[in-house]
Amino acid sequence: MQLKNDRYIRALLRQPVDTTPVWMMRQAGRYLPEYKATRAEAGDFMSLCKNAELACEVTLQPLRRFDLDAAILFSDILTIPDAMGLGLYFETGEGPKFKHALSSKAQIEALPIPDPEDELGYVMNAVRTIRRNLKGEVPLIGFSGSPWTLATYMVEGGASKAFTKIKKMAYADPNALHLLLDKLADSVIAYLNAQIKAGAQSVMVFDTWGGVLTPRDYQLFSLQYMHKIVDGLIREHDGQRVPVTLFTKNGGAWLEKIADTGCDGVGLDWTIDIAEAKRRVGDRVALQGNMDPSILYAPAARIEDEVKTILAGFGNGTGHVFNLGHGIHLDVPPENAGVFVEAVHKFSKQYHQE
Ligand code: CP3
Repeated sequence: MQLKNDRYIRALLRQPVDTTPVWMMRQAGRYLPEYKATRAEAGDFMSLCKNAELACEVTLQPLRRFDLDAAILFSDILTIPDAMGLGLYFETGEGPKFKHALSSKAQIEALPIPDPEDELGYVMNAVRTIRRNLKGEVPLIGFSGSPWTLATYMVEGGASKAFTKIKKMAYADPNALHLLLDKLADSVIAYLNAQIKAGAQSVMVFDTWGGVLTPRDYQLFSLQYMHKIVDGLIREHDGQRVPVTLFTKNGGAWLEKIADTGCDGVGLDWTIDIAEAKRRVGDRVALQGNMDPSILYAPAARIEDEVKTILAGFGNGTGHVFNLGHGIHLDVPPENAGVFVEAVHKFSKQYHQE
């Protein structure tokens, strides 16, 4: 089906657009009262992810409020480790946890590679349901976590600040960690390709924790496996290019290396100036980001100023997708998100004239 609004895809492929496309990381979520109502109806977060109709409903909620240029599948990066049998659960206020965290090479050897249409079939059902309901309005983004980021949760048993358990594995038993990362890369390839076949029109890999590694170990334990993923992905489906974006939070120092993987887009957090990022890699990949999500706490004029500054930093030319540098905070007033989205469309037109 022809997309009615294909700015997001065009920008990632560095083709001309009329205005800079915009979406928000975590655009479906607890800052929206309608999300909280649907989540309460579902019971808990994973039940919401596993119910295709309700996952579709929360995916579409932010699009009803804001003039967004893309929808993102409602799911989570931790579906893969859950499908491998680690037992994902959420404790209120504490974030994700696993009942069976990994600590030995024997446990890693025993891990299965989940079949995306079987154990993860609920995700593919959500993708198909969302695509049907989107009716070609905007593209649907599919996603996964990076092998390193998934491994941090699987070895630490949940969120972490110092990452001592996974770093201990990295330095005391690197072969065990490489085996885990390789299995995860194979799982992510199968999972994202299944999302593409089910209808995802672009995919994104979230490497939330790559930035806690040294430069050499980022290459070895994170980027190498994202590179393997980029090489294994379906890049064209139904006659359309399927752009892939890699996002490493705190990865500003390594943009050239990320662009070298052959991805189409590189996600930026807010710790790097977009003009510098463009100088370094903007002739090879599109850039996505990079507004600090906390700016959405500011008054409208300050939000607009920040949008203008980032637009001016990128300047003329193709290859910019506007986004937040990380997920929207749960106590941001929804009106402020609306100011942000409108500002991107309004103030970016001048950068897209012939
Ligand atoms: O709208 C969207 O952007 C799509 C949905 C989405 C979710 N998680 C829904 C979610 C996406 C893209 C993710 C990715 C994700 N999940 C990442 C990578 C991006 C990032 O933020 O760095 C990570 C690290 C996770 C792991 C995870 N899942 C965390 C840290 C949490 C938050 C825990 C909490 O209680 O705040 C989750 C749960 C989660 N995933 C929620 C949502 C909306 C909140 C759950 C709820 O409703 O209570």
